[in-house]
Amino acid sequence: MTTWTPVGKVNDFAIGTAKAFELEGEAVCLIRNSNGFHAVADACTHGAVSLSEGTVTDEGIECFLHGSEFNLETGEPKTPPATTAIEVFKVQVEGDGDNAVVSVGI
Ligand code: FES
Repeated sequence: MTTWTPVGKVNDFAIGTAKAFELEGEAVCLIRNSNGFHAVADACTHGAVSLSEGTVTDEGIECFLHGSEFNLETGEPKTPPATTAIEVFKVQVEGDGDNAVVSVGI
C-alpha cells in the first residue's frame, strides 16, 4: 500500500532543482523540471552519492560525481558509468496553482 507524504507546495520548488527528503525510512530525491515533479531514490547506483546534489535536466538528473544521467520515468541510467536503475516513486500534486500540495508516495 502506498503511503503519501506531503513535502511542500508547488512554489516551494523552483523548476530545475532537486531536494532531498527522508520519507518512510527512504532517502528520496524530489525533482522539479520542465515536465513536472518526479521522485527517485536519493542515491546514485554507481557510487551511492546523493543525486539531489546533481544537475536537473529536462529529461533526467545527472550525478555530480561521474556524470551518469538517470531517466526520471524509468530510473534507468541513460549514460555510463552507472548500469543499474534507481528506484522511482510516485508523486501527486493536489490543488491549483502555486499553492497546490506536492506529495510523494512510498
Ligand atoms: S557516483 Fe554517480 S555516476 Fe559515479
